[in-house]
Amino acid sequence: MLEYSYRRDDQEIFSGRKHQLSLMEEHLLSSKPVDVHISGLRRIGKTMLIKEFIKRHRDDGSTIHVYINLEEISETPEDFALKFIGWHLYWYYTKGDGIPVPYLHLPSLIFQIPDKELRDTLMPVTVELEKARPDRQRLLEECFSFSGSLARFAGKKIVVFLDEFQEIANLTNFDQMKNILKVFRSIKDRLDHVTYCVSGSIISEMDKITRNSASPLFNQFSHVPIKPYMREESGELINKFISPIDNRLVGLFHHYSAGYPFYLVQILRKTLLFLGRQEELSDMLIKRAFISEVLSPEGLIHSYCTYLYGVSLQRARGYGVLKSLLDTVATNDTSMTQSELARALKMSQGPIRINLKELQDIGLLFERERRYHYCDPVLRYWVAYVQNGVEVADFPQEKDLLSIIEELDRKYQQASEELGRLKEESIMNTMRQFSGQEIDGSVFGAVETIILPVFTKLEQYTSEDGKTEIDVLGVTRTGKWAVEVKWKGKAAGVKEIERFLQKASPLADTCWYVSKVGFTKEARQLALTQSILISSEKDMRLLADSLQNSVERKH
Ligand SMILES: Nc1ncnc2c1ncn2[C@@H]1O[C@H](COP(=O)(O)OP(=O)(O)OP(=O)(O)O)[C@@H](O)[C@H]1O
Ligand SMILES: [Mg+2]
Repeated sequence: MLEYSYRRDDQEIFSGRKHQLSLMEEHLLSSKPVDVHISGLRRIGKTMLIKEFIKRHRDDGSTIHVYINLEEISETPEDFALKFIGWHLYWYYTKGDGIPVPYLHLPSLIFQIPDKELRDTLMPVTVELEKARPDRQRLLEECFSFSGSLARFAGKKIVVFLDEFQEIANLTNFDQMKNILKVFRSIKDRLDHVTYCVSGSIISEMDKITRNSASPLFNQFSHVPIKPYMREESGELINKFISPIDNRLVGLFHHYSAGYPFYLVQILRKTLLFLGRQEELSDMLIKRAFISEVLSPEGLIHSYCTYLYGVSLQRARGYGVLKSLLDTVATNDTSMTQSELARALKMSQGPIRINLKELQDIGLLFERERRYHYCDPVLRYWVAYVQNGVEVADFPQEKDLLSIIEELDRKYQQASEELGRLKEESIMNTMRQFSGQEIDGSVFGAVETIILPVFTKLEQYTSEDGKTEIDVLGVTRTGKWAVEVKWKGKAAGVKEIERFLQKASPLADTCWYVSKVGFTKEARQLALTQSILISSEKDMRLLADSLQNSVERKH
């Protein structure tokens, strides 16, 4: 099934993403469908999610699913128009099971269409293409309208998945071409029964298209963000490779993959190769598999980081400074501010600011509380070593890696802790142990005793427009808990509590703010009057201890 469009290996290991699949269903397949934008960092699993969605729904009968990767078709407007239509016909006639090539060229495309009515619809395009100087604007209007013609002909709805959608902008560079997004928008508004699902790996460009008020496609899409895996999702994937497996080792695989399914798959494959060499599964083996995948030129993660680093910098200006910034952020043991980076590179702040902005735009760094961090801890680890000339063998022995292993936890752990995700997960784990116990309210900054609920669901929450994010949203049978996690060196103040309350109170009846070093006096006061639960790292430890005791008492 889907032999030519969704690799069998990938189909077999697809895991997690239940929430995103159901959101897509709600938006794309409802009686009043909504266009969707699937967003997420590179290699997070956008394309695979789309393909899995198509696989699950292509036999529904009432909808035609069409998948087009614009990266493969946007060489010239003529080529684009022909292939855009060709892919529609391919998906209509083969549902992704046939060989696509004949559908992507003339005249073979014509021979693939048994229905005369559809062949006739194609006429204006073929006639235009035969001209010495085709009217490019017209061609593109025709090809975008084709989705509607196919829907009408088949008497079905169509969902058109446009992957690497940002590539469409390249067409604007051609002679006689107006703003392509405007053309797309005007046709889109006219089409009945056609819904779009767009996705792309260059976040800044996708944001420009979908979220910039000057863009013709501003606010046209409902947002479905793809985040790194939660631990359970990693567990599901890991079990497809190694089963049964100790829960602690699941945690290690999850940790080193940073929740990126792509990294997880590669580390698992490498671990299996080690196991095939009669090695035993252990913490050390997982570390060796991770290090060799990232630092050996034979490793796929290594190749991917080399590629990502190369293309990202190619798209950006000011290559040399960007490289030095990336290197400094990767090798410094603690995160740095703009002025610290300027000092380290012996440059003035102005150009450093511009270059840091560029690195944020291309999705490599992000800023939090004026400090700069890598979005992807694995890439950070790769830069720190490989850009400084360190590489290892494909199947290294433990003794060859002693110093790297010794540094691993310090170098890698810190990078992933900066993302704050580890903390969110550990709080989620704590919440999972809630089961009706009565707890002294002081660990929540409250005076009365608190009865801990049982959660039926725990998740990170992002609103449809992508503007509201809740670190952990817990659903109980009678209500909801919203949790904010701040893991920084400063006490949380009134402003932070207010901001949290503003976004969380419409969503949940219990709001809980967890801050590593605690709260200012005023913030504590506010929390008390507003009945917000507050906990510091110390409270979290006390809470974990009493949960542990209650488990032991039960046994
Ligand atoms: N849900 C999943 N289950 C199992 N493996 C996954 C999943 N999602 C992604 N992967 C793994 O990660 C790889 C990359 O995923 P995919 O190509 O979907 O990412 P992407 O976000 O589209 O990347 P890009 O930004 O480069 O287009 C897949 O080939 C697969 O090995
Ligand atoms: Mg992709």
